[in-house]
Amino acid sequence: MNLTVIGTGYVGLVSGTCFSEMGNRVTCIDIDEKKIEDLKNGIIPIYEPGLEAMVLRNVKLGNLHFSTSLNSSLDKSDIAFIAVGTPMGEDGSADLQYVLGVARQIGREMQTPLIVVDKSTVPVGTGDKVRAVIQEELDKRGVDIEFHVVSNPEFLKEGAAIGDFMKPDRVVIGADNDYAIEQMQALYSPFLLNTGRFISMDIRSAEMTKYVANTMLATKISFMNEVANICELVGADVNKVRIGIGSDQRIGYSFIYPGCGYGGSCFPKDVKALKKIAEENGYKANIITAVEDVNDKQKFVIAEKVVKHFGEDLSGKTFALWGLAFKPETDDMREAPAIYVIKELVKRGAKIRAYDPKAMEEAQHFYLKDIDAVSYCNSKYDTLKGADAMILLTEWKEFRSPDFEELKTQMNNAVIFDGRNQYSTLKLDEKGFTYYQIGKKN
Ligand code: UGA
Repeated sequence: MNLTVIGTGYVGLVSGTCFSEMGNRVTCIDIDEKKIEDLKNGIIPIYEPGLEAMVLRNVKLGNLHFSTSLNSSLDKSDIAFIAVGTPMGEDGSADLQYVLGVARQIGREMQTPLIVVDKSTVPVGTGDKVRAVIQEELDKRGVDIEFHVVSNPEFLKEGAAIGDFMKPDRVVIGADNDYAIEQMQALYSPFLLNTGRFISMDIRSAEMTKYVANTMLATKISFMNEVANICELVGADVNKVRIGIGSDQRIGYSFIYPGCGYGGSCFPKDVKALKKIAEENGYKANIITAVEDVNDKQKFVIAEKVVKHFGEDLSGKTFALWGLAFKPETDDMREAPAIYVIKELVKRGAKIRAYDPKAMEEAQHFYLKDIDAVSYCNSKYDTLKGADAMILLTEWKEFRSPDFEELKTQMNNAVIFDGRNQYSTLKLDEKGFTYYQIGKKN
């Protein structure tokens, strides 16, 4: 098939590239000229395992193209995907200006019948707005061109995006027309050969599915973080409780790992947006509100433990910080717990020596650029010199089994604050460390 993907952010670039990998002819569009120029030259704007090689391969094969001009690719396309951002507006609702702007442009440019697919995460009812805007533009032009609007929410995870897209556990399609559903099924069937399911429904239910999936996952995490906090108070070990409940298949092991709070571009934004959708419709969403509240507090739990150990005044103290990204295998710093922990410690006079395998530039140039008390180190061991404690915030594989003797030699004190319970089974107290984790009193 011939496809146009508008927006070369995380979802757009990964989707476009994976579609091209299946032999479709794909043009990825973005208004950012520098980004398009870079992509044409094989420079990928994000770090995502496997993406670069797949882009280069498909560009070489002639399956994947990049352009700033929508009209040249739209004519030849069977399907156009809208994959632009829906940032959080000031009131917590999703800002639709980019999605509707693209829809308007499609209405102005399209010459031949088209399926317009919304892949961005959008509030319920956006499909109708997209349809209205396109129709309005066609009416202005005085032309009658057939088009169908489809909702196709994306469920890929950063850091595992290629695998998630190439082998999805499900593809959700919202449409009100059999032809559009058949076309989407034809496009996705090569991705669903093994176990994946193709699920079609009405547009509003598909739009809702995306928010509910993310909010459900966030709920599991916040619930476990709350349980972890209770475990500490009653003298239980959340790591054991987690295994105890996860073995019940109805509960399952995934997304019940406690930690220093969920971050990223999706959970915080989507939980807030679903709460807002409920509010706008006159419903007070108690559980969703609690999910957000628990997470807001959880981001401060590690800093609280540090203060409890060292006291309120942290001047003269240095902390080795392992992990800046909101999770491993990404350079994404959006809503990363590290931002909150660092600000809390620096506010009390501490100095930070930080290391992350991929997110150092993002941190240094954007998210922590105004904070002078952070120095960026070349390796995890580099952060330790003169440190009063080590704090682990992202569970990168390279942090899993460090040389603990090296830690002791380099640091002023053998103290570890583990925000991801990576060392909970290692009996670090027997190795001479004061070891703090989430959900177990030390
Ligand atoms: C999430 C969803 O998992 C994807 O299905 C969805 O497509 C995506 O949002 C999106 O809407 O685009 P992502 O934000 O990339 O994906 O990251 P996750 O792997 O889901 O992790 C989110 C956060 O939850 C991280 O901060 C992670 O550390 C935290 N988490 C995850 C926990 O604290 N505990 C867990 O057990 C699992």
